[in-house]
Amino acid sequence: MDSTPETIAAAETPRGQIALRERPAADGSVVHELVVAGVFAMDSADTSTETALAERSLERVEAPTRVLVGGLGLGFTAWQVLKDRRVQDLHVVEIEEDLVQWARLGLTPTLGVLARHPRVTLHVQDAASPVTDDGEPVGPWDLVLLDVDNGPSFLVHRENERLYSAPALSSILAQLAPGGALAIWAAQREPDLLATLTGLATTEEVLLPVERQGRSLEYALYIARP
Ligand SMILES: C[S@@+](CC[C@H](N)C(=O)[O-])C[C@H]1O[C@@H](n2cnc3c(N)ncnc32)[C@H](O)[C@@H]1O
Repeated sequence: MDSTPETIAAAETPRGQIALRERPAADGSVVHELVVAGVFAMDSADTSTETALAERSLERVEAPTRVLVGGLGLGFTAWQVLKDRRVQDLHVVEIEEDLVQWARLGLTPTLGVLARHPRVTLHVQDAASPVTDDGEPVGPWDLVLLDVDNGPSFLVHRENERLYSAPALSSILAQLAPGGALAIWAAQREPDLLATLTGLATTEEVLLPVERQGRSLEYALYIARP
């Protein structure tokens, strides 16, 4: 079987090429791939850590009524949030307008469900805006989940560096409702991020071992509660 990915949508953006591709899995199902800034970002073959970002955070918050997710991607974190019926209002901010448009067109099943769901609002916006400016959508949030990049030590978008800075993180923490939490996904351990967050809130590092293409990797979550 030819497993070369087929591009089903692509666009040039100020940050480089964004594309949605699909390839057949060994069991005959379809695997979706997302390319951002011209580089492979993720696929739907193993979304255990994207899902864990939502699961591990939701279990630490008693009443996650309003949730903000930064970074739509292929929608797996947001979809996992939505499965929690305590969540009434889920806002997703995504910097790439084309990706939001592909979600509205239902180019993958998960993105299509999110775009049509009554408890979900998709925003074309830089995650730095709602968390550092006075713009919409605004808190208070019971939970903020950020998966916009690989982590501060391995950025795809250089501009995302500011999101991991102490002023930006403290601005997000200030927008949390009482009992709320901020959780950040990273593709590797981030000691500096852990130190910054620990200076601002009670912070846990959760390590997530994964096997990808025969390699053992360790992703990480940083969950901060003021
Ligand atoms: C790795 S993907 C997120 C994966 C997602 N957690 C999932 O489950 O599919 C990162 C996403 O963040 C978006 N992104 C990057 N920088 C951003 C920013 N500053 N604000 C909002 N979205 C951003 C990218 O375009 C991409 O869609």
